[in-house]
Amino acid sequence: MRKPFVAANWKMHKTVAEAVDFASAFTPLVHTVTDVDIVVAPSFLALPALVESLAEHKIQVAAQNVSAEPQGAFTGEISLGMLQASGVQLAIIGHSERRQLFGETDGGVNAKTRATLDAGLTPIVCVGETLDEREAEHTFDVLNRQIDEGLSGLTPAQVTELVVAYEPVWAIGTGKVATPDQADEAHRHLRGQLASTFGQTAATACRIIYGGSVKPANAAELMGRADVDGALVGGASLDPTSFAEIVTASRPGDR
Ligand code: 13P
Repeated sequence: MRKPFVAANWKMHKTVAEAVDFASAFTPLVHTVTDVDIVVAPSFLALPALVESLAEHKIQVAAQNVSAEPQGAFTGEISLGMLQASGVQLAIIGHSERRQLFGETDGGVNAKTRATLDAGLTPIVCVGETLDEREAEHTFDVLNRQIDEGLSGLTPAQVTELVVAYEPVWAIGTGKVATPDQADEAHRHLRGQLASTFGQTAATACRIIYGGSVKPANAAELMGRADVDGALVGGASLDPTSFAEIVTASRPGDR
């Protein structure tokens, strides 16, 4: 049984003070939840403050991006060593906004994923098709390419460790959520693709989470699907109550 995994991706929202306020309001709402891995990905600036306020509640903190380079003349970049030194345990890699707005490629995703695993952090690797790709019936081809190239060279054991986030680009920030059938179909496909490359054991262990307009009202139905192991939540994670409701809806007993 895969443990549900629910992560907040705050994108470019919340100052450090706002992040700390969120933590104070959120932690009492989920203090009894031990059967879901809960993760918050704030801006880089808020990472140390959130590590400090969330660690004792067993809530992990993720970066929204990371450099594959260990150090050097890379203006504006943040290294894995810096994240590690600040107590950060995970990194989101290849979010569609990074791919679309900042030119990230599958090759870049691969370099970051390998470096993140080598550093002992957990990558949350994002994949997903655009609306044009879905309408042209290229969804599975796009997912296959993103998995094959993004995870190229990984061992089955490494695939067991990472988290794949299926985020159809047309559902991100649009209020247009994938139906549970659409999500389930894509997740099953992704798991099949992982199985064909890395073997059934790794594919069965790897958590595949859904992202794209997840809200308290639709979370339980999405999480109820066998291959949907959690959620990567944007807008609805900014409010402590609504994010706590999504976490609760993802608990094994509640699904
Ligand atoms: P929304 O939940 O705001 O659609 O964002 C999803 C997302 O991109 C999470 O990474």
